[in-house]
Amino acid sequence: MPPRHRSCRTALLVLAASIAPLIVHAQGASPPKEMQAQLQKMPPEERERVLSYTPELRQKVMALSPQTKAMMKKLHDQHPRRSKELTLRQVMQEVLADYESIVSGIAADNAEQAADSARRLAGHRIPKGGLLPYFALDQVNDADLGVLQTMNDAVEGNALKLAVAADKGDMAGAAARLSDIMVGCVACHQKFRGKPGVSANLVK
Ligand code: HEC
Repeated sequence: MPPRHRSCRTALLVLAASIAPLIVHAQGASPPKEMQAQLQKMPPEERERVLSYTPELRQKVMALSPQTKAMMKKLHDQHPRRSKELTLRQVMQEVLADYESIVSGIAADNAEQAADSARRLAGHRIPKGGLLPYFALDQVNDADLGVLQTMNDAVEGNALKLAVAADKGDMAGAAARLSDIMVGCVACHQKFRGKPGVSANLVK
């Protein structure tokens, strides 16, 4: 082969070698064999969700115990409103707006507003990719996620009880549930939320 062709081929090989990792990265790297087998066993919606994760998160999720996986599935199944676009932060803003609307309803003796808003809060949307992509990677394990159900029940269980009290016109009973709900919000934030909006431009 003439030398010019050889150098051309070498250049092509170098180029291919340098972009190959980028392509693998963009496709999220094809999962290893045993992971493929696990993925095949999942319901289609769950499989699609897990495949949308980075290899790092995917590995953490696959390593969860069957109990934690079942709990996460139940949590997601309890929330049929799914968003393809919204982040957890955006969903949380909406949850806060619903909470404020419950307070307005109670304050204005509008039992219907309070009850509707409480049910809407309990049935909040699930963000794009589910809940797990928005938690710190090192908290995606059985021990840390074990408390999720309790926190979820504190918030949503009390919101539904508030709605029932409001339906009966028991506004004092509804009002008494407000702090139970907020205790659930605060507990989950203390465990899973960093400080919102921290600036990278501050040195101290
Ligand atoms: C399952 C745990 C959990 C529960 C329960 C929960 N939150 Fe959150 N919340 C989070 C996490 C995690 C974030 C951080 C999300 C992010 O920044 O990506 C967050 C963030 C927020 C934010 C900040 C949004 C921003 O712009 O930074 C608000 C407001 C909020 N939550 C309100 C609430 C309210 C109100 C409740 C109770 C009615 C509640 N949350 C219950 C986990 C939870």
